[in-house]
Amino acid sequence: MRKEGKKILLLDTGNLLFRKPSQTETKRKDALLRVDLLIQSYNEMGYGVVNVGEKDLMMGLRFLSEATQKAKFSFISANLTDKKTQKGMFSPYVIKEIAGLKIAILGLLDDQFNPTLQEIDPGLTILDPIITSKGLTKSLREYSDLIIVLSQLGESKDKKLARENPQIDLILGGGGEAQKAVIERVNEIPLYRLEPRGGYLGRVDYSLIDTKKPIKFFVSSERDELEKRMERLITRSMQIKSEMAKSGKQEEMRVKELKFLESKQKELEKTLLALENKNFYRHTAIPVQLSVEDDPKIMKGVEHYRAESAKLYKPKVAGLPEKGLSEREMIARIPKDSLFVGAITCKKCHEVNYRNWLKTKHAKASQTIVASPKYAQEECLMCHSTGYGKMGDYATVEEIPFYLQGVQCETCHGPGRGHPGKGRMERKVTLGVCRNCHTKDQSPTFNYVAFLEKIGCKISK
Ligand code: HEC
Ligand code: HEC
Ligand code: HEC
Ligand code: HEC
Repeated sequence: MRKEGKKILLLDTGNLLFRKPSQTETKRKDALLRVDLLIQSYNEMGYGVVNVGEKDLMMGLRFLSEATQKAKFSFISANLTDKKTQKGMFSPYVIKEIAGLKIAILGLLDDQFNPTLQEIDPGLTILDPIITSKGLTKSLREYSDLIIVLSQLGESKDKKLARENPQIDLILGGGGEAQKAVIERVNEIPLYRLEPRGGYLGRVDYSLIDTKKPIKFFVSSERDELEKRMERLITRSMQIKSEMAKSGKQEEMRVKELKFLESKQKELEKTLLALENKNFYRHTAIPVQLSVEDDPKIMKGVEHYRAESAKLYKPKVAGLPEKGLSEREMIARIPKDSLFVGAITCKKCHEVNYRNWLKTKHAKASQTIVASPKYAQEECLMCHSTGYGKMGDYATVEEIPFYLQGVQCETCHGPGRGHPGKGRMERKVTLGVCRNCHTKDQSPTFNYVAFLEKIGCKISK
């Protein structure tokens, strides 16, 4: 977009920095490294404003303020306040001037998060977002042409906000679990929500022609529709004319239709002309796919993060078995308190399943990511290893204990400790289990029935 010469304002609705609270010191340090990487990357991309989301507060306010000191962009929140003084903890809004347009951006948190917030930081409180927004927009209207809300309120409260506060020009929603991209208008206010985790980049183009105050923008899809109708009218007229020319006759029906079309055309022309000097906005959701080229400078930051992050994690359990270890010795190395016992343990009683599984891609799924050094292995391990997040810390393939390498029997059948006997193995493996890893992005051609044939276990019809 920059190459197109467009003036750009990059906004983020929040929940940028953390995914979940870090329990261990190692994970805390890792979280800080990741925050550094995110901030550097956002600086590099030239972000303007980022809203504070509830996940950003997960490590406490002090942690957040320290972590964000290097940011060249503003963190905002209109309704996160000190409980005693009622003073805001961040700027409630920012006003940006772009191409002569004054744009006010304000950020809102959901007050439903208050009980959790009390546990993290009892000194803070979140005020009612809708009341807060009304108070702010009333005064902001005087100095700004456009008011944009970065919201963490979730779908139903976003709609309520749009219904109750007509001063707002655009609501960008975060939070919740929007699927893909949702674009709608409530009370004439456009409301966008994108699938979380950065699957989409939402783009809104504003074209400013009429600078008479108050500045008003119209949605371009209505004009597009009129233009399309115009095109259809013209095509039809031309068709009739060429038919008449061919036959050499002036058939009454056709002449009548032509007249009708021409009058309609004139009407439309007038409507379109009236729109000519108006301002429009247009929105598009751009899927961020693997085919999008990586920025070399940001990739360098990513490499750096990976190297530093890998240093933090030390293998907790025995790593790869030394070559030539017997099966019995391997089994002996599996900790007695581990929920997962590894395919090697199952082999004793389910030899056929084991041999067939060894031949599948699942058995080698951890090695696969070694062959893709471009990526941090930790990002891949949730699908390319067994029990990630449930068993000790590991961040690289070398650190994965051998009985958790690859997609083992127990990813599908459940942890094997205590089986056979008290521990019952799940025989049926549902589509939902496969879908944990075979997501639309990672496995676009996934087909349950066809893929089941290739996993090495006998399927009962
Ligand atoms: C000591 C022998 C033994 C070991 C080791 C063993 N199993 Fe089994 N497995 C059995 C027996 C016996 C049954 C049938 C009785 C039962 O369901 O408990 C069985 C049944 C199963 C079933 C079918 C359950 C059903 O409802 O039909 C699955 C799936 C299974 N095992 C998977 C595994 C996996 C995965 C491992 C390794 C983590 C494993 N087993 C290790 C002996 C074993
Ligand atoms: C823990 C994550 C995970 C689960 C659960 C999982 N898979 Fe996979 N699957 C993978 C990964 C990762 C690969 C790619 C392995 C590789 O080549 O590195 C894969 C590959 C496959 C392949 C090979 C595809 C090919 O290109 O030939 C099949 C078939 C398959 N999975 C079927 C299934 C089915 C069916 C289920 C559910 C019963 C399932 N998988 C559950 C992670 C998983
Ligand atoms: C959400 C789960 C998931 C994550 C995360 C994931 N993968 Fe995969 N990956 C899969 C599945 C499932 C397949 C099998 C796809 C298929 O064949 O349909 C696969 C296949 C692959 C393949 C192709 C293997 C082949 O047989 O051709 C490579 C390479 C790969 N993944 C690398 C990576 C890397 C590197 C990462 C980390 C940046 C990663 N994956 C993260 C689930 C995942
Ligand atoms: C990708 C998921 C997946 C993996 C990995 C997997 N299984 Fe299965 N397994 C299944 C499915 C699906 C069935 C068939 C269930 C049905 O239709 O009854 C099955 C069936 C079974 C059965 C009962 C039928 C039979 O063949 O006797 C056993 C036992 C079993 N698996 C053991 C294992 C063992 C041992 C491993 C590892 C060496 C393993 N499975 C790996 C998905 C998996």
